[in-house]
Amino acid sequence: MEFPAEPFRVKVVEPVRRTTREERDRLIREAGYNVFALPAASVYVDLLTDSGTSAMSDYQWAGMMMGDESYAGSKNYYHFEETIRSIFGFRYIIPTHQGRAAENLLFSVALREGDLVPNNIHFDTTRANVLHKRGVPLDLVIDEAMFPEKEHPFKGNMDPAKLEKAFQVHGPGKIPLVMLTVTNNSAGGQPVSMENVRQVSAIAKKYHTPFIIDACRYAENCYFIKEREPGYGGRSLTEIARELFSYADGCTMSAKKDALVNIGGFLALNDEGWMDKAKNLLILLEGYPTYGGLAGRDLEAVARGLEEGLDEDYLAYRVGQVRALGERLDRAGVPFVKPTGGHALFLNAGAILPQIPRENFPAQALVVALYREAGIRAVEIGGLMFGEKEADGSEKYPALELVRLAIPRRVYTSLHLTYVADAVIEIFRNREKIKGLRLVHEAALLRHFTAQLEEVG
Ligand code: F0G
Repeated sequence: MEFPAEPFRVKVVEPVRRTTREERDRLIREAGYNVFALPAASVYVDLLTDSGTSAMSDYQWAGMMMGDESYAGSKNYYHFEETIRSIFGFRYIIPTHQGRAAENLLFSVALREGDLVPNNIHFDTTRANVLHKRGVPLDLVIDEAMFPEKEHPFKGNMDPAKLEKAFQVHGPGKIPLVMLTVTNNSAGGQPVSMENVRQVSAIAKKYHTPFIIDACRYAENCYFIKEREPGYGGRSLTEIARELFSYADGCTMSAKKDALVNIGGFLALNDEGWMDKAKNLLILLEGYPTYGGLAGRDLEAVARGLEEGLDEDYLAYRVGQVRALGERLDRAGVPFVKPTGGHALFLNAGAILPQIPRENFPAQALVVALYREAGIRAVEIGGLMFGEKEADGSEKYPALELVRLAIPRRVYTSLHLTYVADAVIEIFRNREKIKGLRLVHEAALLRHFTAQLEEVG
């Protein structure tokens, strides 16, 4: 498959500066081998995240000029609410400045110390927000997700048997809600099937437990359902989305993904009691419930972005871009998580760099090589992000060492991605030269953001 042609043309350009290898060598050292500490202007292709990095359309920018900045009851809020209700269907909706603020509100009203939260796989901020409320995150993804080379059409699914068992072992009194992340970011941007959503919802209902969807990449998930799940090929993406959310009692949303904006999010719930408490906290922490920490113009951009995010031509192009990148790497034998996900390609750093032991962070070493050799910024999803300290001070590592190449929406052209593919292949061919890293500074929570490292050997 070749890269798909863009379903848009360019109206505004943002120049990017090319750096030399010598400059990057110095910059990455000064950044403590942590790409979060790099100045973005020194990055050529920024694949750190697909979050908040979308290019907005002329329609969205025009909407920004229609911002009603009234403190209460802004007209943009009503457009925002109406658009969300028409797609997601939930009764109560509050804006938040991004997804993790919605998570914080949800867990603040729902969790007590020691409660468990099942999810297919918690994203890092979701996990950290559960831990922050002294809850216990449970990752109940299907076993197939642990095998990077294994093809599965819905590799993001939760294992219903594991969920059932969690209820039986711990009791519904310890599980205040069940979550499902669509698509499953940490498993490789893999989709969840409608059948799985139905199964998870039925188990939650059986135990009278609210079922909440982490909806960041719901549109990409719906596209995969249409493409891969029997019975959905002839349905519109809006219909698929409506069905998906009809099985749930609410959702958290980072609008920075499938709503195609640079900032924004929301919490939507059917339960009035939870929403009342969440609203009071929102007023305390974020802002009045008709703006929730955003400007009126931001709400308008979200409303318009949600409409565009479900456009089928756009999604075919977006998912096709990631898929074509994967096919290029596959032809060169580069190991990555298969099939490619909706928003990203996940390199299997553990398989690429078997000579680097876990304590020397093979995936982070690959991230450093991508920047130093090619000016590409990726993100580590491995021992640095998800390593945990045991009681005896030793480290427990996650199953996989991955490097995520997240593709911003409507930002990079096929030629940018060809450049990325060529660079990855070149680094893969010279992989025995890559050195491991050692931690010299780490924070207690979400350490990957601020960690400082040095090269070993
Ligand atoms: N849930 C998932 C599945 C996410 O991927 C993210 C963010 C969040 C929640 C939190 O949303 O950033 O708006 O507070 N993911 C970004 C990423 C940061 O790079 O994957 P947020």
